[in-house]
Amino acid sequence: MTRLSVNLNKIALVRNARDSGLPSVEWAARTSLEAGAHGITVHPRPDERHVRASDLPVLAAVVSRYPGSEFNIEGNPFHNLVPLALAVRPHQVTLVPDAVDARTSSSGWRLPDQAAMLAPVVDRLRSAGLRVSLFMDPDPESMHLARGLGADRVELYTEHYARHSDDTGVLMRYVEAAEAARTAGLGVNAGHDLNLSNVGPFVHAAGPIAEVSIGHALTCDALERGLGPAVQAYVDALANAATGAAR
Ligand code: PXP
Repeated sequence: MTRLSVNLNKIALVRNARDSGLPSVEWAARTSLEAGAHGITVHPRPDERHVRASDLPVLAAVVSRYPGSEFNIEGNPFHNLVPLALAVRPHQVTLVPDAVDARTSSSGWRLPDQAAMLAPVVDRLRSAGLRVSLFMDPDPESMHLARGLGADRVELYTEHYARHSDDTGVLMRYVEAAEAARTAGLGVNAGHDLNLSNVGPFVHAAGPIAEVSIGHALTCDALERGLGPAVQAYVDALANAATGAAR
């Protein structure tokens, strides 16, 4: 079954609006893992508008109390990410080419153009024993290049799929990219704009997908249902997609 990593960026964004520390990202991590999530994702940006560097050890400690669960730290390795990752030692580091002032991640790495700059970073993180995933557009031709850099996984950037989830041609591009990645020896993650409606069909078509990282839509659902029930609904959607795939 595809694992759910809950992205806590939006919880941190609301927390940062006041000085009370509420809503607590530690509480959100604990509640998500109690409800069945398999991991926690954060994106510590240089301006700290989402999680702060000081949140990372706290969240790593929470995750460590749930055997089998994983901590994924994503971000741009040419900003602040590498020293933070080496200090906190999450299970996975997802490298994302976002600009400092980007509202959110908006593209994958361009390979082979950015390969030379990425190679030493991937090497440094992998030498430290960390799993490295590269955020990638669904370009089947790039997948063997990602593997050639030493990456363990790719995270397919699913915003385009989410915008065009009824377009079979768009979905097929992701299916082909996922297959190319697996053929190259990469694990496949996915994320961005996934929600309760589109995650099941995506995982069913493009699977096996190792992990999806979901933040914005899950946070919206949590406002209606509560965080625990919202997480459970996503876990159920992933379980149903796996069952459907097995049939
Ligand atoms: N993956 C990456 C690399 C991201 O930057 C984000 C957004 O922080 C996500 C996944 C999750 O996207 P969403 O918040 O739309 O679920």
